[in-house]
Amino acid sequence: MNARNILLLLLPVFGFVAACATSKNYDPEFNAAPQDVQSDWPMTRERCSQCHSLERVFEYVDASTNRDEIEMMVEDMAGRKKSKIEDAEIPRIVQVLDWHRQK
Ligand code: HEC
Repeated sequence: MNARNILLLLLPVFGFVAACATSKNYDPEFNAAPQDVQSDWPMTRERCSQCHSLERVFEYVDASTNRDEIEMMVEDMAGRKKSKIEDAEIPRIVQVLDWHRQK
């Protein structure tokens, strides 16, 4: 096998590493969460990455000082046009994000 072929084989690996560097994977962090937070995390991830990246969400959440601020922000997002967030999901999402803030 020549050097060119080896390089071609490695290209997908470089691509994968680059993709991970630009988009943080939050899943492992939630492995340490209480059971109810863990089970609501996939729903939260899906709802809150519909219009923008999750980086945006966690930059706000981790800098935020209290649960009320998070609740107001989630209600704001749920009220946006085309949002798929249902009223019953709001407290569950708040709980998930509030756990991340305190972890
Ligand atoms: C229907 C589209 C939509 C959905 C769904 C959505 N967002 Fe947003 N979000 C936006 C838009 C548009 C902005 C751009 C800034 C603005 O308009 O305030 C934004 C901005 C934000 C910001 C930045 C606000 C700031 O003050 O810097 C945060 C934090 C945020 N979203 C969190 C969330 C969370 C958490 C969820 C899930 C509960 C969510 N978003 C779901 C549309 C959405």
